[in-house]
Amino acid sequence: MERTIDLRSDTVTRPTEEMSEAMARAPVGDDVYGEDPTVNALEALAAQRVGKEASLFVASGTMGNLVALLTHCQRGDEVVVEAESHTYSLESGGMSALAGAIPHPIHGVRGHITAVQLESVLRPPNVHFAATRLVCLENTHNRAGGTVTPVPALRETCAAARGRGIAVHLDGARIFNAAVALGVDAREVAASVDSVMFCLSKGLSAPVGSMLCGSRAFIERARFYRKMVGGGMRQAGELAAAGIVALEKMVDRLAEDHRHARMLAEGIGAIPGLFVDMEAVHSNIVMVEVRAADLDAAGLVQRVERHGVRANRVSARKLRLVTHRHVAGGDVEEAVAVFRSAMATADASRH
Ligand SMILES: Cc1ncc(COP(=O)(O)O)c(C=O)c1O
Repeated sequence: MERTIDLRSDTVTRPTEEMSEAMARAPVGDDVYGEDPTVNALEALAAQRVGKEASLFVASGTMGNLVALLTHCQRGDEVVVEAESHTYSLESGGMSALAGAIPHPIHGVRGHITAVQLESVLRPPNVHFAATRLVCLENTHNRAGGTVTPVPALRETCAAARGRGIAVHLDGARIFNAAVALGVDAREVAASVDSVMFCLSKGLSAPVGSMLCGSRAFIERARFYRKMVGGGMRQAGELAAAGIVALEKMVDRLAEDHRHARMLAEGIGAIPGLFVDMEAVHSNIVMVEVRAADLDAAGLVQRVERHGVRANRVSARKLRLVTHRHVAGGDVEEAVAVFRSAMATADASRH
């Protein structure tokens, strides 16, 4: 069978051999009783890696964001979200359906809600208005194309929120991609937010799991909500063991994914009929706009798939490519060649 170059997501990464070995050896216990030593070790390590007091192992990024919302908000509270954020647009409406929060979406700048934007939508307390309790940020920002918000901009938005008594949650599913791209420690990226969720199961290659991190008191309450949504996982130490390897061994290599994304963006951006905004290529995600008159994103995804390259359609004219551990430099060159031949017969006059 022809080998596939799977650029749909970094979630397709399989565990490393070291992870599988660590999983087989992991001492375990019942984590709902707080007795799984490997989960406890992962939670301590994760908290330390993002500079928070405590952390909680959750089944997924979606669960981590939902538990954060449940912990920060009461039913009927308003949450300011970026309009293209994962939490708002790709988590099945859990924010409203399960946490009872009212989202207030704002179109950010390359995925970031600036302090000025936030100030402009915050309203004074009034009997007519839902109480704004939380701002959700996302770094790197998936839908904006893996864009990275620098630390000072994060700090400004958090200061604006804090000035009004509003907490900030960071969807840092790919916080280590952000840190590596900025050349700073992840602690700096998370320093000004109240809570942060990050994923072990994306570029870091763990099979399952995300971490929700914050103050000791916040995580104590979050543990209650994790149980409420069915996230108490018993002998989860086997999964946590892979998470420990992810944090200890897999962060530095993300720089390679970023280099590959840049190569991919340059190659694909040079193909007539396709457009890549190079200014938005910051980490391991590349958004490609299909501008050919007679071909849309779905059509292009189908064409390249016939030649072993998989991509995700994100809208009628946009597709997303993500680099990760299973995409080598040679794969990038091959993928670019497949896109070039798929576009060769397309009408490159602009849509
Ligand atoms: C920015 C962001 N947040 C949250 C999630 C949700 O993670 P999960 O798929 O583990 O629920 C994702 C997943 O792709 C994501 O990209």
